Amino acid sequence: MAKIERLQKLRAIVQEGGGPRRIQRQHESGKLTARERLALLFDENTFVELDLFVKHRCTNFGMEALETPAEGVVTGYGHVEGRLVYAYAQDFTVMGGSLGEMHANKIVKVFDNAMKVGAPVVGLNDSGGARIQEGVDALSGYGKIFYANTQASGVIPQISAIMGPCAGGAVYSPALTDFIFMVDGTSHMFITGPQVIEAVTGEKVEAEELGGSMTHNSRSGVAHFRGPDDAHVIAQIRRLLSFLPSNYMEKAPEYQMGEPNDYIEGLNSIIPDNPRKAYNMKEVIAEIVDYGDFMEYQQYYAANIITCFARIGGKSVGIIANQPQVLAGCLNVNASDKAARFIRTCDAFNIPLLTIADVPGFLPGVDQEYSGIIRHGAKMLYAYSEATVPMITLITRKAYGGAYLAMCSKELGSDMVFAWPTAEIAVMGSQGAANIIFSREIRKSVDPEAARAQKIAEYEEEFNTPYKAAERGFVDDVIVPATTRRRLIDALNMLSGKKVQKPGKKHGNIPL
Ligand code: HXC
Repeated sequence: MAKIERLQKLRAIVQEGGGPRRIQRQHESGKLTARERLALLFDENTFVELDLFVKHRCTNFGMEALETPAEGVVTGYGHVEGRLVYAYAQDFTVMGGSLGEMHANKIVKVFDNAMKVGAPVVGLNDSGGARIQEGVDALSGYGKIFYANTQASGVIPQISAIMGPCAGGAVYSPALTDFIFMVDGTSHMFITGPQVIEAVTGEKVEAEELGGSMTHNSRSGVAHFRGPDDAHVIAQIRRLLSFLPSNYMEKAPEYQMGEPNDYIEGLNSIIPDNPRKAYNMKEVIAEIVDYGDFMEYQQYYAANIITCFARIGGKSVGIIANQPQVLAGCLNVNASDKAARFIRTCDAFNIPLLTIADVPGFLPGVDQEYSGIIRHGAKMLYAYSEATVPMITLITRKAYGGAYLAMCSKELGSDMVFAWPTAEIAVMGSQGAANIIFSREIRKSVDPEAARAQKIAEYEEEFNTPYKAAERGFVDDVIVPATTRRRLIDALNMLSGKKVQKPGKKHGNIPL
């Protein structure tokens, strides 16, 4: 029938995007097309495209004669491991994926629909930014997307992947979402590009150095994940979704766990005898999570703290752990920001928190003070104190001073605090403590050095243990390290019905 043929023809034209020449150019630059990306994101044959007949309404600069298939953005929904997910993918082959009024409307509709049914949104960004011909209509489009991002925040998970240019104000939609992925070499994010920076400040910088994947993953902390190409990044997005619920009212899906390894002998000797020696906290994490499998969040940023998703006994958990191998595991400005954001992300989406503490304190230094360690450190205290998900804390070794509290102590809301026998929970390290409280005795002694060593040993014996904290009930149990996994599985099951009533308020005021 002619009408059906017409429909099929129209669909085919739209699905060609910017045409073979531009698609070839897209491939030559190492990028997949919007539709190829969506095909990788969704389970086979589950993607349903919406709004493919939408057209722009611009008549400036000869635009009335210009066709923009699907308005430069492919939108719709499909399944990821059988679960509903909404997505949009900007089509760089159509006017460079530039964003005009109707392109923006399509994206906003994705958010509206996803909010109605409580499904995550994945945005695949590849765009030259505001469609210049559309002027203020394009700016208005961005404004509507920012608003939609903010309304959806905490309701449904929002994941952004940067898979091409993302410049100017366009960066702020991804920045408002929960997770940002970047592709090595082909993705760039900046507010002002290299030419503008050179014109204004005289600084010369390449796009990659200014706003490439590693810059934002390791330096600025803007991005959370990276991958070598489109396919890897999309596979990682699918993996991330497996740890998340579809919305704030649900729990993350539970997975079948094979035979749990109940007694992990290696953990009994993982803490070095020499307290000054570092060990790799990632080895501890690998031992206690299902299949040794965890997905790091901001792996390359503030490596003195590890944040990752994993499963323990089949249940999703968010892990926050000091890394003794980097800055001795101290908390600094960047680590505090990283951890606080991660804690709030997990709390928003009902993912229990496991905190593993081996922390000598907040990092001392003029630079840290000037950078606002007080303000940034407060974010961690706030994020934990505000969280209502099940919270378990494990103290493996050091837990000193304010950092002891900041690593989810009992007082901040931890439901279950475990300590290994190697734990040292004290107001400060034994050297500093002995020098202050025994200074007179040390000074008056005939052999001050011997006296100092003796006083340090006395302090260590008395305070650098988990038992003082356990006497007060700040530690619920001191456990054999090899039994940690079994105890964690048990605690997570016990806490799975946790409910907390919070005082009524409009919203809290986290120090930002
Ligand atoms: C309209 C655009 C466009 C845009 C690219 N194109 N960006 N059309 N508006 N913003 C078109 C090009 O004309 C070209 O059309 C096609 O897309 C591909 O672009 P190329 O330049 O050929 O591609 P490439 O060499 O890969 O360079 C990509 C680019 C460059 C680096 C993104 O196109 C560029 O610099 N674009 C302008 C970026 C920009 O200044 N955007 C506005 C930022 S201000 P043909 O027909 O030849 O294929 C902004 C404010 C947002 O975004 C504020 C929000 C609050």
